[in-house]
Amino acid sequence: SWFFLGRRRRRQGEPPLENGFLPYLGCALKFGANPLEFLKEKQKKHGHTFTCHVAGKYIHFLTDPFSYHALMRQGKHLDWKKFHFATSAKAFGHGSIDPAEGNTTENFHQTFIRTLQGNALDALIEAMMENLQYVMLQSRAPKLQSNAWVTEGLYTFCCQVMFESGFLTLFGKEFNSNNDKNLSAKQETERAHILNALENFKEFDKIFPALVAGLPIHLFKSAHSAREKLGEALLHKNLLKRDNLSELVTLRMFLNDTLSTFDDMEKAKTHVAVLWASQANTIPATFWTLFHLLKSPEAMRAATKEVQSVLESAEESVSLDGKHISLNRKQLDNMPILDSIIKEAMRLSSASMTFRVAKEDFTLHLENDSYNIRKDDIVALYPQLLHFDPEIYADPLTFKYDRFLNEKGEEKTDFYRNGRKLKHYYMPFGTGIAKCPGRLFAVHEIKQFLALILSYFEIELVDSNVKCPSLDQSRAGLGILQPSSDVDFRYRLKCL
Ligand code: HEM
Repeated sequence: SWFFLGRRRRRQGEPPLENGFLPYLGCALKFGANPLEFLKEKQKKHGHTFTCHVAGKYIHFLTDPFSYHALMRQGKHLDWKKFHFATSAKAFGHGSIDPAEGNTTENFHQTFIRTLQGNALDALIEAMMENLQYVMLQSRAPKLQSNAWVTEGLYTFCCQVMFESGFLTLFGKEFNSNNDKNLSAKQETERAHILNALENFKEFDKIFPALVAGLPIHLFKSAHSAREKLGEALLHKNLLKRDNLSELVTLRMFLNDTLSTFDDMEKAKTHVAVLWASQANTIPATFWTLFHLLKSPEAMRAATKEVQSVLESAEESVSLDGKHISLNRKQLDNMPILDSIIKEAMRLSSASMTFRVAKEDFTLHLENDSYNIRKDDIVALYPQLLHFDPEIYADPLTFKYDRFLNEKGEEKTDFYRNGRKLKHYYMPFGTGIAKCPGRLFAVHEIKQFLALILSYFEIELVDSNVKCPSLDQSRAGLGILQPSSDVDFRYRLKCL
């Protein structure tokens, strides 16, 4: 009978229960190895709604895209914050940010919306445009001398360029006076600091899934020390030595200082959390977008043409004499082909999971069925099932650059299943109240990256027949998956 310890039986009105074979771990091992296959198999066996016992938790999966909306509507029984707050505290090592626990009265969600959207977004976009060109051209200048090709790993490249420019955009630059003779030496030092932060970020990010799963960070010595070093770099006293901090970071510093009882290191760790959120998905999303573009000559032609025509109508010219291209938010918003390419790349690589925790016992009413849910159970959506559904996306594993364009060449929004139009068909940023607040900035920065790459560089894969790397499943549930191996590419400055 020990075998049944820690498990429960299905009660009347509850979804079919998949207990898994191992006690306690339940379905965790099989789920972790390949969540998509696991969920498809259970869907076949049980239908659209079923419960899995995963690592001590009972998770009700809703796999019918038409039930997503019903879930959003019954939000009052479900808590999305608790899980996020607890995860953030565990992973980044700050105290609880749940106002109910008394460390802070900041409403983080409000802070993010205020500083990543609306007018604040224009400033972010402007800074990112400048920083991307600084990083691509000045900061990499030694590599780009002469017209020789530079060969690099595509993932490594995307990591360095996006991390360095994204870091500068959110956290500003070290103080520099522009007429300083040693400017370039200072820029070198600054670059070394940021690349060092990138190494720490990667070291920490590697074990992020383990931390979310609940393993304590002291099991991972080097990742632990990497996280502390990131914290050190983002202490308020160090941030105060920087110019051009974003509104996001300035406001968060102010609210840390005025609304929280956090000590200096805990304050810094809330900034580490923001740094992680701003980079962890953006980097792989940028990689997949550029990879698919390089693999698809048709997409490359269409994208290049769109970028050229937007630059022309903005009366911007591309030159290497130090004058940077500037495209504002409105001009960037007028690039449906790049939008479709970015969406398609994210459709193929995203494996985010939406979690809600039941605040009480309640009955969840879906379109045709109702299910009893117990307090503290989790209700989850796994949108990759939707993204890879052949009925919604014909030939779902193939990259089609114009999949999100209609006949007029504008954004396509009608997708169908069983002849019915879907409200939710694309969800890499989550959905409902906890949707990623940085999603607009994320898409803009990837677009800016592509527009600049296509304007300044000739770029190609070293082996044009290289196979698409597989998705590293270890981060399934956490967002955009990383490639399981890197791909070599080469680039050189265009002769302008
Ligand atoms: C949360 C995806 C880029 C800031 C999230 C969530 C997802 C997501 C799935 C969780 C939503 C939920 O639980 O329902 C992505 C993807 C990105 C991206 C796919 C890039 C391709 C960014 C960027 C920023 C950012 C660039 C900031 C500069 C945040 C923050 C949260 C969040 C602060 C936590 C929100 C909260 O708990 O209130 N993101 N994100 N993200 N994201 Fe993003």
